Amino acid sequence: MQIALFSPYQYNKPMVSKAFYNDSLRMRAPLNNDVVTFCSNSNDFLSLPPKQIFSRIKASLKDSENKLGVGGEAEVWKIKDTDYCVRIPHDSFEKYRTKFSLVLSEQDKVNHTVAKLGGGATIMPVIKGYTFCSPNITNKEVAKMIELMPQKAFDSLLIQVCNAKKAGLTMDPGWKNIIVNPENQTLSAIDFCKVGEDFDFNKSIINQIYCSLANNPATNNEQRKICAGKTLLAVINTCNNGSKMNIDLSQMGFERFVYHLKYHGLVSNDRYLKMLETHLKGLENSSMKNLKYPENFNEFFNHQKIIKVLVKQLFGY
Ligand SMILES: Nc1ncnc2c1ncn2[C@@H]1O[C@H](COP(=O)(O)OP(=O)(O)O)[C@@H](O)[C@H]1O
Ligand SMILES: [Mg+2]
Repeated sequence: MQIALFSPYQYNKPMVSKAFYNDSLRMRAPLNNDVVTFCSNSNDFLSLPPKQIFSRIKASLKDSENKLGVGGEAEVWKIKDTDYCVRIPHDSFEKYRTKFSLVLSEQDKVNHTVAKLGGGATIMPVIKGYTFCSPNITNKEVAKMIELMPQKAFDSLLIQVCNAKKAGLTMDPGWKNIIVNPENQTLSAIDFCKVGEDFDFNKSIINQIYCSLANNPATNNEQRKICAGKTLLAVINTCNNGSKMNIDLSQMGFERFVYHLKYHGLVSNDRYLKMLETHLKGLENSSMKNLKYPENFNEFFNHQKIIKVLVKQLFGY
């Protein structure tokens, strides 16, 4: 595909409108949709020569103000005067300058990577917002922000984690791996990895999400209930029309999730919890049948309806 940078003409400027009526300009072939891109900034950071990119990274690493976060494996630093950050594994600070590549796999994209450097370092767009343990904010404030996120933020997060799973990656269910953005009202997962079948959280997508959002000690039980309810409703919303379902319910880990609800003491009514467990299992089993047949679809739809009501009763929606 041919790419042309798009810089709109400003017709209200006399010199430009004059130019527009100039034949040489009018005779140019019109731009088709597929040759136009709206990245008018030809000085995009990633198109600079690697040497310059490395020296901009090096300069950014000198100012601790640019440090966005630290995890078990890596540190993430904002690259000054750009919308990008660099993630450098703890033992790769001497190696990141050995490679620069824009060739990305699907798995790289899941992890927000836009360029790969040496020693496993990567460049990503900065995702604005906070995780637990972010600087200049308390964990209580982060818990409050998560509590106030709308249902659609939970729906998108679930789809993000399910898509990662399709690409062969599992979300690392840590407190610092979901960025909450109160301005855009979004929840974004950031840390996905390849794990073996025996990984504790494998096939347990709801638990990965719920634990990352609600397992911090600063989160109170009311907030946990809200996270549990919204995470479950996200599943129900996302498989709303069984025939177009784009999530695999067998990957959700309903059984373990119910165990977690008990463990956190979130649900006092054991009878309702048992019902929830039964209908979640029923939903999962009926999703494996051919939903084109009305009897299968009705079974699926009934479980969905009952779960919605139970979520309301158990978690206060
Ligand atoms: N794209 C990003 N935008 C903003 N902050 C980020 C981004 N990626 C990571 N971070 C911050 O850096 C921290 C560590 O990053 P992460 O990739 O989770 O490393 P680790 O694998 O060591 O846990 C995160 O907890 C988060 O605070
Ligand atoms: Mg992490």
